[in-house]
Amino acid sequence: MHKGSFITLEGVDGVGKTTQALMLKEYLEERGQEVCHTFEPGGTHLGSQIRSLLLNPEHSELHSMTEILLYAADRAQHVYETIRPNLEAGRTVLCERFVDSSIAYQGYGLGLDIDGIKQVNHWATGGLVPDLTIYFDADPAESLLKTKGDRIEQRTLEYYARVREGFLTMARNEPQRFKVISAKGTREEVASRVLEVLEGRF
Ligand code: TMP
Repeated sequence: MHKGSFITLEGVDGVGKTTQALMLKEYLEERGQEVCHTFEPGGTHLGSQIRSLLLNPEHSELHSMTEILLYAADRAQHVYETIRPNLEAGRTVLCERFVDSSIAYQGYGLGLDIDGIKQVNHWATGGLVPDLTIYFDADPAESLLKTKGDRIEQRTLEYYARVREGFLTMARNEPQRFKVISAKGTREEVASRVLEVLEGRF
C-alpha cells in the first residue's frame, strides 16, 4: 500500500488534460497537499528519449509490438523513478496518462491483444493501479484540431473513435475507479466537474 493518492487523467489528444492537471495541482496545494504532476510518455529523462522514438512521424517502420513495449518501458522507468517514490513520500501524484492509455490506443485503437497489453503493463508497473482515473470525454474530431500531428495524431478519425469507445468501455467496466466527465465548456467549467468527482474521495 502507498501513502499518497494516485490520480490519473485520461482522454484523447487535445482534450485539455494538462490545463486541468495544473488547475487541480494548484487547488490541492492551496489546501495543503503536496502534489507531483507528471505525464506519460516522457515523464523521466530517459523516458523523454523513448517519447521521441514513439512520436516522431518519420518512424513509420515502428512495429505495433515495439510500440506497446516502448510505452511499457517508459512507464516502468516512470513508476520506479517518479511515481512510487512520490506516493511513498505521501504526495498526491497527478499523472497524465497511464496503463489505460495503452489499452485504449494500442488495444482498442489498433485492435491488438488487450489481455497481452494488460499483462505486460502489470509486470512493468509491479501491478500499480490508480486510486482514481478521470477521463475527459470529447469528440476526437473537435479535440484533434488542437494538436500538432505527431506519429500517433496522424491516425484516422476512425482510429480515434475506437480509442474513445475503448475509454468509455473501461469506464463502464470499472465505475468506481474510472470517472467520465465532459471536456466541453470553459476550463473553469471542466475544473468544477473534476472537483465534483473528487469531493468526499480524498
Ligand atoms: P500526449 O500527447 O498526451 O503527451 O501523449 C502522446 C501520445 O501517445 C498520444 O497520442 C497518446 C499516445 N499514447 C499511446 O498511444 N499509448 C500510451 O500508453 C500512452 C501513454 C500514450
